[in-house]
Amino acid sequence: MIQYHEQELLKRAQDIMQRAYSPYSSFKVGAALLSKTGKIYVGCNFESAAFGAGVCAERIALGSAIVNNENEFVAIAVCGNNSPTYPCGICRQALLEFGDIDVICSNSDLTIVKTYKLSELLPYSFLKIVKK
Ligand code: THU
Repeated sequence: MIQYHEQELLKRAQDIMQRAYSPYSSFKVGAALLSKTGKIYVGCNFESAAFGAGVCAERIALGSAIVNNENEFVAIAVCGNNSPTYPCGICRQALLEFGDIDVICSNSDLTIVKTYKLSELLPYSFLKIVKK
């Protein structure tokens, strides 16, 4: 098991939450994804007048990690105005592709923090078996 600093990850999620572009929902989300190499990739949500074009904070963090050649992760911290803020179903599915990581869910001032395994948040999930 890889040890990590939960508070540091939460703080990174809280900081990046301020960058969210969410004029339609006014709901800001920040995410910080820790890779097995020890690096942290952050993301915030953005929205669009064409509603379906927006993307969640968690998938922005995941995309940022992937473009940096990372595909193994340890944990993700999620910060938002819900108490706590949980990743949506699409983000759970997108993250599961890369392993059963810890998901640290918090409110905006980090006073409520709940940690789960991703498989607890998305049981009986779909994963395609890729034959090599
Ligand atoms: N949102 C996220 O960024 N992550 C989630 O897991 C849930 C929802 C964003 C999408 C949208 O911009 C706003 O929160 C309101 O749904």
